[in-house]
Amino acid sequence: MMRENMNKKKEKFYITTAIPYMNSKLHLGFFYEAILADVLARFNRLAGKDVFFLTGTDEHGQKIAKSAQSKNMTPQNYVDLMAQDMKRLLKLYEISNNSFIRTTNSKHEKVVQNILMQLKENGDLYKGYYEGWYCTPDETFFTDAQLVDGKCPECGREVEYLKEENYFFKLSKYQDAILKHINDNPDFIFPETRKNEVLGIINQGLKDISISRTTVKWGVPIPFDDNHVCYVWVDALINYISALGYSLEDDTKFRKYWPADQHHIGKDILKFHAIIWPAILMSLGVELPKQVVVHGWVMLGEEKLSKSKGITLDPDELEKNYGVEPIRYFLMREISFGQDGSFTHELMIRRFNNDLSNDIGNLLSRTMVMIEKYRNGIIPSNNFSNDNFRKKWDEVRDFAINCVEEFRFNEYLSKIWELINMANKFIEDSQPWNVAKSSQENDVKKLDEILYTLIESLRLSALLLIPVIPKTCEKIFSQIGINKDINEFNLYEDGVWGSFKGETKLGKREILFPRIKE
Ligand code: ME8
Repeated sequence: MMRENMNKKKEKFYITTAIPYMNSKLHLGFFYEAILADVLARFNRLAGKDVFFLTGTDEHGQKIAKSAQSKNMTPQNYVDLMAQDMKRLLKLYEISNNSFIRTTNSKHEKVVQNILMQLKENGDLYKGYYEGWYCTPDETFFTDAQLVDGKCPECGREVEYLKEENYFFKLSKYQDAILKHINDNPDFIFPETRKNEVLGIINQGLKDISISRTTVKWGVPIPFDDNHVCYVWVDALINYISALGYSLEDDTKFRKYWPADQHHIGKDILKFHAIIWPAILMSLGVELPKQVVVHGWVMLGEEKLSKSKGITLDPDELEKNYGVEPIRYFLMREISFGQDGSFTHELMIRRFNNDLSNDIGNLLSRTMVMIEKYRNGIIPSNNFSNDNFRKKWDEVRDFAINCVEEFRFNEYLSKIWELINMANKFIEDSQPWNVAKSSQENDVKKLDEILYTLIESLRLSALLLIPVIPKTCEKIFSQIGINKDINEFNLYEDGVWGSFKGETKLGKREILFPRIKE
């Protein structure tokens, strides 16, 4: 398997997040999505793929125009500021996106207009009247029957009655083709429960959707009708191909990276990604994304985070309290993919102290102290193979690779912790401090073997942890004397038990995660 992977031409991997609305400061919910996609981007780079990772900002629509107005700013000045802040937070949270798309970018707007022209030329747009209840926070129309107690069925807030002349897209025309695509491609929507939800919606019958607005001014103008701007959702979905240059003079990236391998989204925007987006692409004659991956909610205790309701977990505050990598670790370790997951400070502190400070932090410092004390800071050579550990590592690595296929990062991490805990137990069982007392050749060798085994456990655990806590891994590698750029590691080349030669000097010892007071 290893050789095969090394000889293969670099496979491409295109991954995206949803582009969040810039109507208020981002909360941890979106960062959960960004971290999830980042872990996958980093994992695929580690596995040797040519990764293109896209995120960005959704900057048009009524909701944003209203937010700008409330701050006495022009919409453009307002979104410029918000996009700047999002970029700052992405960097803070170590999100390794290759590109950042803004829907007010002129190239994006051009692509939206090109696409609207194409849809029209294909006979998939027509003019009609739209009447209905509009929920501005969700930027969605509802019928009378859909309202719950006269309020928005999605978020429970007030809705406005609007009647306007709109352009409609013939979504109904693509109903059978979408159904067929979902049935022919069982992995298209993941997980299964979300696929069933989509099938349920399709089976009720798809209606054509309005894709333009006359009441809203803050949007991409419809190229063939000055009175209309493009519906913000259509504008936003197009980001996934506009960022690659679709329909522009330079479409190299589009030809190289499309179709997307994974669109990561939350469960509230499933219909847009699994029905409307595929229909638009079908009309354009463009291949569909390979997979729409749907995660659950990050909750604050029992409550759903909501920017508009003010229930929020502020990424800056969290970073100040815990640091970014413990938060990344927490979200991946604590939440089962596809389910909702709770953030609480108690749980966060427990994970920090137990898993990070104690298990991995202590393993590193105990190992280093012993190598400093018994071997002058020189790591013994790889003259032996501890079969138990070698087998365990092969099991951990293969299991971890399988977990990634189904986004089971909690299991991915708990499996690595089996190796970390095995190494900690090995220290207790083999009592190196007693072995060190003897100068007999056998014992000298035995101590070398113990110390090398511990280093190798740390090195390989860190290798698999690169996607989740990259800076910590960089620190681990540099402390055990491996000074290689974190992006240069390869899961298959480096991930072989015993391949680290040893006989090298340790770096400077430094505590990884100072305990937090409970
Ligand atoms: O929907 N937990 O933007 P958005 C987990 N602009 N994920 C959450 C979350 C939570 N508590 N709250 C939100 C939009 N999300 C559109 C997207 S894409 C072409 C346009 C997720 O700011 C949400 O499900 O409301 C979505 O995937 C993303 O954050 C942005 O949400």
